Amino acid sequence: MMNKEAVLFAGGLVVDESGERHFDVRVRDGLVVETGSDLAAGDEERVDISGCILAPGFVDLHTHLREPGMPEAETIETGSRAAALGGYTAVVAMPNTDPTQDCVEVVEFVSKRGREIGLCDVRPSGSITIGRAGAQLTPFADLAAVGVHLFTDDGSGVQDEGLMRRALEYAGELGVVLAQHCEVASLTAGAVMHEGECCSHLGLPGWPALAEELMVHRDIELSRLTGSPVHLLHLSTARSVELVRGAKADGLPVTAEATPHHISLTDERLSSFDTRYKVNPPLRTMADIEAVTAGLLDGTIDAIATDHAPHPSAAKDRPLDEAPPGMLGLETALGVARAHLDCSWQHLIGALSWRPARIAGLSDRHGRPVSEGESANLVVIDPDPDWQVDPSALASRSRNTPYIGVDLKSRVRHTMFEGRMVVRDGVATA
Ligand code: DOR
Repeated sequence: MMNKEAVLFAGGLVVDESGERHFDVRVRDGLVVETGSDLAAGDEERVDISGCILAPGFVDLHTHLREPGMPEAETIETGSRAAALGGYTAVVAMPNTDPTQDCVEVVEFVSKRGREIGLCDVRPSGSITIGRAGAQLTPFADLAAVGVHLFTDDGSGVQDEGLMRRALEYAGELGVVLAQHCEVASLTAGAVMHEGECCSHLGLPGWPALAEELMVHRDIELSRLTGSPVHLLHLSTARSVELVRGAKADGLPVTAEATPHHISLTDERLSSFDTRYKVNPPLRTMADIEAVTAGLLDGTIDAIATDHAPHPSAAKDRPLDEAPPGMLGLETALGVARAHLDCSWQHLIGALSWRPARIAGLSDRHGRPVSEGESANLVVIDPDPDWQVDPSALASRSRNTPYIGVDLKSRVRHTMFEGRMVVRDGVATA
């Protein structure tokens, strides 16, 4: 593993939860040790970041790392590198691995491997039910004792209301959070895309917005009943956003995330039958995009999460009804979000960093203010460039990005994880 470095970031604009200021930032032994105007370089390396933004590193609530079980799609190493290149210093690893992250052994394997690689903080989620089969709860207390804070059956929703109620009660007592993949399975069997006009034209089986909204509504009401927090994953419809807005107005402990693809791509993309646009929940309509975007802008939706879902070409090259859903996200999230969200840097970085850090229970080390004594988990963003994805340069082992040939805005220049430059000038250092 690389040594912790002594670096003086000079000439940048610091953006964190407390505001914006033109400050230099001195890092040593894994910590921010000094901030201020025109700091003199001592024996540390001076890194000129004039014109750039220095911020707390990003935190992804929703990353599929595929290990154990699917190394042909991604490994913890390739996924960690993709995360670092995207500006992330922490990722929550989804549990739909093989075997499932439903027991201490698998969870510890993932955390240990993440630490060995050391490119970002890899925090495994635990599944809510054994094997994500929706029948029997996992040992939440044992999993929480080895560091699991977020529990989800992502890839599927918990269908049984009684089980979900018990899970929320149990999670509330332990101080952990349940994250729901909102999909009523009986309404989406065989579906390949959003149920609407485009799907009727193409004659393809549809995934109705209602299948998401029913579960969003149910879980909001279960959160009201139990008093326990619930986090709603990858929301995609206008009505879902409206329901969360109402829950927040009622003061319920409900949080939500949206993906870059659900604010940038509509269901019409599927008219090409290109499987890169097949994702779960599916791409929706322009009206949904506008509502999800408005939800991110007014804070109804707390966080931008990638749902980074690598799949090998052999799987994605199958016909639309057979290809697995999912698209890459880690290396393009900032560029897509910046191109589609008209807001301040502070609001945007909040949705990528300190708000998800809080939901993931990581705000002791991530999403922190850039000030003396804090862990040096930082990102430096060059705000200006328009750029396009070079698929051969992606760190992910898979290539299923829908953003080839698309103009993205703003780029990660450096990522520092625990005081080590894991990305320097846009290139991973390990
Ligand atoms: O598109 C998706 N892909 N949505 C999910 O919920 C799961 C994910 C995957 O694991 O491929």
